[in-house]
Amino acid sequence: MIANSSQTIIAMTQISTNMKKLICLLNDSRWHADSNISQQLGISRNAVGKLISQLKKKALAIESTTGKGYRLSQPLVLLNETAITKHIKPATYQAKTNIIIADCVNSTNDALKNLNTDTGGKIPVYLAEQQTAGKGRRQRQWYSPFGTNIYFSCLWQFSKDISKLAGLSLAVSIAIVRTLKACGFNDDFMIKWPNDIMWQNKKLAGNLIETVAESHGMVQVIIGVGINVNMPATAAQYIDQPWTTLNHIMTKYHDRNIITGTLISHLIPVLAAFSKSGLKPFQDEWQCIDHLAGKHIRLSNGKHHTTGLALGITEQGCLQVQHPNGEISVYSSGDISS
Ligand code: BTN
Repeated sequence: MIANSSQTIIAMTQISTNMKKLICLLNDSRWHADSNISQQLGISRNAVGKLISQLKKKALAIESTTGKGYRLSQPLVLLNETAITKHIKPATYQAKTNIIIADCVNSTNDALKNLNTDTGGKIPVYLAEQQTAGKGRRQRQWYSPFGTNIYFSCLWQFSKDISKLAGLSLAVSIAIVRTLKACGFNDDFMIKWPNDIMWQNKKLAGNLIETVAESHGMVQVIIGVGINVNMPATAAQYIDQPWTTLNHIMTKYHDRNIITGTLISHLIPVLAAFSKSGLKPFQDEWQCIDHLAGKHIRLSNGKHHTTGLALGITEQGCLQVQHPNGEISVYSSGDISS
C-alpha cells in the first residue's frame, strides 16, 4: 500500500528453518508451552525464547502468557511453491512458470530485474514475504509488512513497440479483478483508472509495470502486483490514503497461496490476449467495473491540474474527460481524485 513518509519497516533477514517451523507450530491459534516448542523443534528453551523475541521484532503479533506459553494472534500461512502451484489452472500453466519465493527483498520488481538465474524459457514469478522498499506508482512507497499480503512480480516479453503497451496496466487490473472473483470474493471490486483496484472507494490492490529491455519491436516488462490480503488494522498508521484489505472485507484470514495461484492462472491468458489484440478483448469488461465512469474528477499530472466528467477509456486505454466547456480531452497518465 502507499505508505506515508514515517513508515519504518524492520528488515527481516532470511528467516531460519527453525523460525519457519515455529511459525508453522504457532499457526493454529492455540497456546504452546515453551517446553513443548523446545521438544518439537529439538532446541533448548533458551533458544525458543530467542526465536520468539526475534519474531516479535518482525512485528508478528505473538501473545505470551505465563503458564500457557505462546500463540499467534492471527494465523500465518507462509508462501509455499507447492501450495501455489496446486492452484494454477489449467495445469499447463504450472509447467510454464518458475516460482521464486524470497523471505525479504527491497522490491520484488527490482529483485526480479537483478535475477541472473536462467529460467529455462519459463515465466519467472518472484514473490516475497516482505518488501523493505516496495514501490508504488509515481515514486511512492508500497507498505509491505511480513507474511501478510501478496507482493508479486513476473517478467513478460511482448513482440510489440513500447508505444503499444500504454493499456497494459489496465489489462493487468482486469486480471486482478478476475482473480478476486474466481477466489469467491464478492463482486464489488472496481478499477480506478489506470490501475487501482477499489472496494467501496478504498484501495485494495495496484500494479506497477516497468520496462527492462527494448529492442527491434520487442519489449520486456516486469509486472508488479500488490494485493492487501491479511493486513492488520495497525497498518493504518503507515498508509496515507483510503485503503482496505481482503481479511477486512470478508472478515476472515486468507491463504495467499490460493490467491497467488489463481492470479497466475488469470494473468497469463490476459497477457497473451493483450499481446495479440491489445485492450480490445477487455473493453466491455472495463465498462462494467470502471470506478470513474460518469464521475466528476480532478486529474493531476505533475503541476498541471484539470477537472471534468470521466467518460471511460479509449481503445489504447487513455482516459477521456469532458471539461466544463464541453471539450473532450484524452489523458495517458495522471492521478485522479473524485
Ligand atoms: C500502485 O498502485 O501504486 C502500484 C503498487 C505496486 C506494488 C507491487 S508489490 C510487488 C511489486 N514490487 C514492488 O516494489 N511494487 C510492486
